[in-house]
Amino acid sequence: MTDPLFSAISESAPWWRVRPGTSLTVEGGAPLAGTYRISGAKNAVLPLMVATLLSPRPVTLNNVPASLDVAVLAALLRRLGATLDWREDVSGLSLTVTAAAIHAERIERDLVTRMRASVLLLGALLARSGEADLPLPGGDAIGLRGIDYHVSGLRAMGADITLSHGTVRARAAAGLKGADIRLPGPSVGATENLMLAAVGASGTTTIRNAAQEPEITDLAHCLTAMGATISGIGSDTLVIAGGRSLEGAVHRVMPDRIEFGTLAAAAAITGGELTLLPGVTGLGDATGLLGAADPVFRQAGIDLRPVAGGVVAGRADAGLAGVDIVTQPFPGFPTDLQAPAMALLAIAEGAGSITETIFEHRFRHVDELRKMGANITVRGRTALVRGVPRLAGAHVEGSDVRAAAALLIAGLGAAGTTVLGGLDHLDRGYDRIAEKLSAVGARIRRTEE
Ligand code: EPU
Repeated sequence: MTDPLFSAISESAPWWRVRPGTSLTVEGGAPLAGTYRISGAKNAVLPLMVATLLSPRPVTLNNVPASLDVAVLAALLRRLGATLDWREDVSGLSLTVTAAAIHAERIERDLVTRMRASVLLLGALLARSGEADLPLPGGDAIGLRGIDYHVSGLRAMGADITLSHGTVRARAAAGLKGADIRLPGPSVGATENLMLAAVGASGTTTIRNAAQEPEITDLAHCLTAMGATISGIGSDTLVIAGGRSLEGAVHRVMPDRIEFGTLAAAAAITGGELTLLPGVTGLGDATGLLGAADPVFRQAGIDLRPVAGGVVAGRADAGLAGVDIVTQPFPGFPTDLQAPAMALLAIAEGAGSITETIFEHRFRHVDELRKMGANITVRGRTALVRGVPRLAGAHVEGSDVRAAAALLIAGLGAAGTTVLGGLDHLDRGYDRIAEKLSAVGARIRRTEE
């Protein structure tokens, strides 16, 4: 991380520590055991933080995960003129954002391009101040194609949007107007962006073919607490009555269902047992978090036993078994658990398959798992995984947050030493995962290799 970037982040998120090392060295073979607290959801907290810009009053988010993405977005909010107040106690990290005045022109390229979720600033800034100049997150490879649903939805609401020199220029001088929008596909980010814009638009906005992920429901609940009127929450049609000024609110970020699934797979892969506590109450509430992954994981030999406030996860007596998985938008099997599930299938009895239908290029962990001895063949969008008795440690590289997590949990179960590069990706999306895993028996060190 470059120095100016680090100072912007550390001033805005004082809890953020640059952790040493560029890789993790993992000694495999130790069964995980103990209690693991599941953090607030990465994919919920980012849109929630952007939502705080819609009100001039303080909005408090509890259960905020201490991840690099959160620190980067905090730095962006501060540059835009918001005041941030952090609290940390035994129940975790809380953030109060007061966006009394917003300077939309102060968006910082270095910060925006580090994080795809910064595209959500388009909707929120248009709603709040009628303008946004946003450098494209990620550069040419993404281009306008990856945000075309966002752009055409905002245009339908009256925004004037052009692209030049890698920056999206959006203006709504007379304010946004409610519209009836049908998304071409149920995009999570586009649904969130249009919700953020719609609460600040005049009139009613209907978003059809909306994504239904729980993180969207979490955003809708926070916006409602801030005074927005939204109906159809949790369905594929959201109706948002705009034009009201929003108030302050206190909201608890939902637990991270992907961290939960990743750790359940880790417990089973290592033949250990973890009590996963996502901070929900009531017997059975925690298993519900896995959604469509719950029956699939059980079929693959993960034992999931509900206990008060959580789940005990381990390997079923019958052992791990190959299953066929197809990723789908919610309520289907989540694409974000596809890579961790592949680490599990790699050592399961028999063959299984994973078909990825959401992202075209989300099999980059396959070659890395192969280096560890996995038997995986890819045909088009399907990976056929023939289980082997055990993987062997290797030098591998995590190319995105979930690929890195998959390689990490594969390494925990493998024979010998795995050196995992791409640590930045892990730190981006998981709250102190190496440290939390060490506390439940994983043999992990941060190293320079
Ligand atoms: N798409 C378009 N045009 C658009 C928007 C989306 O073609 O304007 C396509 C995408 O290229 C993709 C598909 O639609 O093929 C779905 O993309 P979506 O917009 O739903 O994804 P996202 O909002 O960019 C979020 C999560 C991802 C998660 C997906 C799917 C955040 C910050 N990111 O991304 O999380 O995989 O939804 O559930 O919420 C991760 O956590 O590792 C991660 C990548």
